[in-house]
Amino acid sequence: MKKISDRVCKIEPSGIRKFFDLAQKEKDIITLGIGEPDFDVPEKIKDRAIRAIENSYNHYTSNYGLLELREKISKKLRKFNKISADPEKEILITTGSSEGLDLAFRTLLNPNDEILIPSPSYVSYIPTTLLSGGIPVVVPAYEKDEFRLLPEEIEKRLTKRTKCIVLASPNNPTGAVLRRKDIEEIADIAIKNDLFVISDELYEYLIYDNEEHFSIASIPEMKERTITVNGFSKSYAMTGLRLGYVAASEEIIESMMKIHQYGMLCAPSISQYAALEFENCEKDVKAMAEIYEMRRNLLYKRLNEIDGISAVKPKGAFYIFPNIKQSKLSSENFAERLLKEAKVVVIPGNIFGKDGEGYVRISYSTSTENIEKALERIEKFMGNLNL
Ligand SMILES: Cc1ncc(COP(=O)(O)O)c(C=O)c1O
Repeated sequence: MKKISDRVCKIEPSGIRKFFDLAQKEKDIITLGIGEPDFDVPEKIKDRAIRAIENSYNHYTSNYGLLELREKISKKLRKFNKISADPEKEILITTGSSEGLDLAFRTLLNPNDEILIPSPSYVSYIPTTLLSGGIPVVVPAYEKDEFRLLPEEIEKRLTKRTKCIVLASPNNPTGAVLRRKDIEEIADIAIKNDLFVISDELYEYLIYDNEEHFSIASIPEMKERTITVNGFSKSYAMTGLRLGYVAASEEIIESMMKIHQYGMLCAPSISQYAALEFENCEKDVKAMAEIYEMRRNLLYKRLNEIDGISAVKPKGAFYIFPNIKQSKLSSENFAERLLKEAKVVVIPGNIFGKDGEGYVRISYSTSTENIEKALERIEKFMGNLNL
């Protein structure tokens, strides 16, 4: 008898982990591979977590999450995202945005429903679709468009079976930020074709050059057909505290809650209490974003000075996605050789979808000193390729 289900056999383990395992075997490594902030969690959140432990707030919360936290999130959604969401019925607290994404796919997809997924994009969208029985249809986002997903590329891939579009802005791994005009056109496509949108907005506060974050669910007709997925991992440096949230219509949230109730019960209580401080941490978030922006400027300038490498300027998140095609190496080969020969970890772009081939993801969630050292090593490595 075959032990493992067909659905699980269809998915591969994340390629990112493989690179960290390889890196473990090397010495004097500089890693530009990490997808999480290098900062400490803001003091106020930390203190609140300590108080929560001292006060023994170690019990289950409501399945939906603490009402007080949902109320604060609702206020933030109204103010920052221009989304109205009833804290009692239209918000669910999740275990990281990862769980929010998983619930979203499982709630919306029937077997063989097609879901449009930007490529390159975050590694979980395709496997989660497959586990939900859906069919991922990738929509390329091109370097010439600064990796922004364009409405016309979505339109070209619509079929009778299309159920849903995934939007991810700012994007991991490219740092692309979608333009308001494009989001409005994508909304028109969704309304005209009766589609849902799953909008992953996890990096919403990490946006540079005065770019704007625009939430598709703020368009009144889109509220009923959008699941906004968000969380505290990136903006608040809370990755290990595993806290996220989703906002959608009452009907969708109630359905997502059913899966959450049986699969997770509730998000971690201590993390929920700690997050009650999030609205008092605006300054910390801004300070982290300013440091990321400085590092991005450094990487953008210096990478483009290296022969054989070019990079578009990312507008958000903490990643840059340089083109390495002149090296004539595949993304995997480039990353493997850079690790072995220059002791620098980057992530091959193809891990984020086939349109990422020819690129690598460099994360700038590490010190300026590390970035400078890594850049010197990359320059030397490229020089040794004798292009
Ligand atoms: C675009 C994007 N969405 C979702 C996640 C999942 O993050 P978490 O579950 O920590 O909220 C990540 C993590 O890297 C990400 O980059």
